[in-house]
Amino acid sequence: MNVVILAAGMGKRMQSALPKVLHPLAGKPLLLHVIDTARELAPSKLCVIYGHGGAAVPDVVARQNTGAYAEITTALQEPQLGTGHAVMQGLPHLDDDAPTLVLYGDVPLTSAASLKRLAEVAGKDKLGILTVEQDNPHGLGRIVRHGGHIVRIVEEKDASDDERRIREINSGIMMIPTRHLKQWLGSLSNENAQGEYYLTDIVAQAVADGVPVVSASPSAQWEVAGVNSKVQLAELERRHQLNIANALLERGVTLLDPARIDVRGELICGRDVVIDVGCVFEGRVDLADGVHIGANSVIINSAIAAGAQVKPFSHIEEAVVGAKSIIGPFARLRPGTTLAEDVHVGNFVEIKNSQIAAHSKANHLAYVGDATVGSRVNIGAGTITCNYDGANKFRTVIEDDAFIGSDSQLVAPVTVGKGATLGAGTTLTKDAPAGKLTISRPKQLTIESWKRPVKTKH
Ligand code: UD1
Ligand code: MG
Repeated sequence: MNVVILAAGMGKRMQSALPKVLHPLAGKPLLLHVIDTARELAPSKLCVIYGHGGAAVPDVVARQNTGAYAEITTALQEPQLGTGHAVMQGLPHLDDDAPTLVLYGDVPLTSAASLKRLAEVAGKDKLGILTVEQDNPHGLGRIVRHGGHIVRIVEEKDASDDERRIREINSGIMMIPTRHLKQWLGSLSNENAQGEYYLTDIVAQAVADGVPVVSASPSAQWEVAGVNSKVQLAELERRHQLNIANALLERGVTLLDPARIDVRGELICGRDVVIDVGCVFEGRVDLADGVHIGANSVIINSAIAAGAQVKPFSHIEEAVVGAKSIIGPFARLRPGTTLAEDVHVGNFVEIKNSQIAAHSKANHLAYVGDATVGSRVNIGAGTITCNYDGANKFRTVIEDDAFIGSDSQLVAPVTVGKGATLGAGTTLTKDAPAGKLTISRPKQLTIESWKRPVKTKH
């Protein structure tokens, strides 16, 4: 089949410089939701009609052409003279022998299942329309039937009072035999209330030519809901997030509140995963069996191994957390962090581009950057790896069983040997030998004769 995605409308009501179809839903541009759904139908041709925003839309489309799927082409519609005129711009890209499915770039949540149903009823030689009964059909095209058969679509602005009472609406999504489509589009007129070339006028032409017109319905109204404003975008975001949350619940994930989770990408969960309220997941996140995520955590492109606990208000990005580890509350794991099993990272600890081996702990107020940390290491409160001289980054190596006293600075490049101990407050500028106490603190002294000054009153 051919797929044409209409995305040339300007979206004035979005009040934004960004073309409407590039506004994100669940972190992904509206248009990419439609492209991804279209690709589930394995179309032989896929063409996006764009208009506003210069090269922004074609640039985003070009990045989808990675080779795994049929190439997506783009066609410019300038000026925008209506939905029929928009489809006309795509005609040179279409295969005459396959039927053409028309989708809208601003209708992101249509399911592939609904589109497959439409494709099935339409077959190769019927005109199929995805329609739905709506309590408030205001502003939409109405499906006019005679004796149960669809005879035409009438737009709100052109409709009679009787026609406006019809509740069955045109979603805009249609499946059309392509040779007929070309011929019908060629004889469209713009003599209507909006002075536009309406794609919907092909329905009356099909009836006149004896081409059967059939319909299918989506599973829910939101499947064909479009985005024209930020209010509608926010409504569809919530709908989509609730769908994702329900799918997670169905798979056995415990969500403390399915209305308070945001998944902007792919969240893969094992068994007995528990997610508290207010968490955001971006990109691909893997939560293995028994993982608990505390409230208000943000996790981006990361993997959390079995039995690990992330306590509230943690921020984890491009990191790997080992089994049974305990992270947070208020921990930050930055890109390149790899923690082995049973690692504890406590409050106000930041770790970047570092590997930490099993059973090591940094429980309070520390910065560990560009470090290789062994097993059973204890990093005391206030420890800082001084990894940056303003121009270059250097590594810190802390070997197994080392103990870093509180408030130490490790000025990289530097190595703390196996089993070494650093006294609290050490500024380490040379390697600390294995198994020994190293301390850089001046000796403590008490001045016996000292007296605290007192204020004299005048
Ligand atoms: C259209 C349908 C209407 C249907 C409604 C569903 C027509 C004439 N009317 O009305 O029956 O109920 O959608 O939402 O088809 N577009 C272009 N180029 C244009 C005009 C539109 O690419 O010149 C794109 C828009 O970006 C949008 C889609 O087509 O994605 C629909 O356009 P819109 O202006 O919203 O059509 P409606 O008047 O709402
Ligand atoms: Mg519309």
